[in-house]
Amino acid sequence: MCGIVGYTGKRPAAPILIDGLGRLEYRGYDSSGIAVSDGKKVNVIKAKGRLFELEKRISGASPEGFCGIGHTRWATHGKPSDENSHPHYSRDKSFAVVHNGIIENYLDLREFLTERGFTFRSETDTEIVAMLLEYYYNGNMLETIIKMRNKIKGSYALGILHENENGVFYAMRKDSPLVIGLGENENFIASDIPAVLPYTRRFIIPDEQEVAVISPDGVTVYNRNREQVNKQITVSDLSADAAEKDGFAHFMLKEIYEQPGAIKKTVHDRITPDGIKLDRIKLDGKKIRKIFIAACGSAYHAGAVGKYFIEKYARIETEIDLASEFRYRDPIVGDDCLTVIISQSGETADSLAALREAKRLKSRVLAIVNVVDSIIAREADDVLYTRAGPEIAVATTKGYTTQLAALYLLGLKLARDRETIPQSEYDGITSAVEKLPELLSAFIDEVNPAAQYLAGKYYPANDAYFIGRGADWSAALEGALKLKEISYIHAEAYAAGELKHGTISLIEKNSLVIGIAADPALREKTLSNIKEVRSRGAAVIGVTDSPDAIKAECDELMVLPATHPALTPVFTAAALQLFAYYVAAARGGDIDKPRNLAKSVTVE
Ligand code: M6R
Repeated sequence: MCGIVGYTGKRPAAPILIDGLGRLEYRGYDSSGIAVSDGKKVNVIKAKGRLFELEKRISGASPEGFCGIGHTRWATHGKPSDENSHPHYSRDKSFAVVHNGIIENYLDLREFLTERGFTFRSETDTEIVAMLLEYYYNGNMLETIIKMRNKIKGSYALGILHENENGVFYAMRKDSPLVIGLGENENFIASDIPAVLPYTRRFIIPDEQEVAVISPDGVTVYNRNREQVNKQITVSDLSADAAEKDGFAHFMLKEIYEQPGAIKKTVHDRITPDGIKLDRIKLDGKKIRKIFIAACGSAYHAGAVGKYFIEKYARIETEIDLASEFRYRDPIVGDDCLTVIISQSGETADSLAALREAKRLKSRVLAIVNVVDSIIAREADDVLYTRAGPEIAVATTKGYTTQLAALYLLGLKLARDRETIPQSEYDGITSAVEKLPELLSAFIDEVNPAAQYLAGKYYPANDAYFIGRGADWSAALEGALKLKEISYIHAEAYAAGELKHGTISLIEKNSLVIGIAADPALREKTLSNIKEVRSRGAAVIGVTDSPDAIKAECDELMVLPATHPALTPVFTAAALQLFAYYVAAARGGDIDKPRNLAKSVTVE
């Protein structure tokens, strides 16, 4: 939602903060700012707009000092503006604060502080934190921070700088991500590991509400009871250029091309001659009465594919929920259920809340997550990592297809446990899953020119309708989301058979319809729906592995490779990702950072 970074050491802080913010900009990009301490006072510089606006503002007048904090924002409280950008000063400017999260009781606290003579410069919830710190300050930073912490409710990752603390800054988190990077005579904080990977590979992750005191010589962490705690150091194996574009025009295109490798990492050692081994996860499919899948956005679409797969092969009733609905709908969940939470980032607020609700209802929770040690991964009973590596583009690509791969593995494992899948079918699917990376790699190269050509023809469209049945409908949901979020074309996905119950009235001459007919069992049915829209003048792009079966009813085709029918959503996704990418490029969109969005959504 927002990205925070902090540095203390022997080097000028400002360039390191700006560099880190560049790698965090995907988390929010409507404004940014830094605060640097020169040992006497704290200097804040911030700017509305992209990071380059901040860089312009500080060029030639970079704040001096070796210790500082920085922030890149996705607005929640208050519009994007210089005033609402972080860092926020306290009233007397002795404190500066950066924050990722939401202070839920900020209105009450604003009143509390107003009654005590404080006035505010911004509309943000974060400014409350800076003011509270000034209000409670008694010369002892730890005590001051704990008093502030006891007053605020909500979620936060905080970086705190005070003018009297030469070379030292403070950090704390609750329900928002924060890592502490350990260097040689220098230390860092960041919202995620890749932001500071060029400087260090050694990290510690503070637990909820712990306070970290960060100086060049070391990091001390205090728990909720103010006791010093020893933290485990983890060494990241991510490559330092994981967050670089690597010659691609955009991160999205790079990540589309990374999908075969990412899927390979997700599946390769988990398919064994003795069955599917899901790391250390102890699940017995025979003991699960019902599965709930809860997730948001593309992760929800992956779950929708998973539902069809699990029900078909493992014969377990599987319900799929938007996490934002699950958390409030009082679902009938019990200890004989498995709840699967799917999240690339592992920090989506609604998915985290759904996880906590499922646990409260005594369900076992399995998280399918990409970001290692993220909050959802840490709170789930079991975690199945998707191993996609850092995903920077806001529109997910490899995050989504690796979720599909993980769900195939889960479905196969449950089916084997329950003996609901014939051996030959199991062998056929596992072998197709093992071949996925190679086939996908060849397919991406092959479909790329077709996607460019189709984008060149259809990019002026105002609306697009994606239709399909069964898992093709789930794939349609993802295709429509991809197109709308980066090209801003209004795009909707419909179960093909449902279109005639109302929405078909929107179809007119040259309406763009993407008809997905990959599932052989449903192809004929989808074809008849394609005929219905075509006869009303729609231009149809058919997506299929059997071109001869549908080409007479389509204006254009995207041809999928022959694979096991259950796996076609992976190829449909890649084809539609490329189509969306080139349409957005033709329309001049900001592909990696589409308007109004941010990579991880840590608010409700
Ligand atoms: O990090 P998560 O997988 O929990 O994120 C869920 C959605 O916010 C995410 O998939 C979103 O829909 C993407 N922008 C889609 O490309």
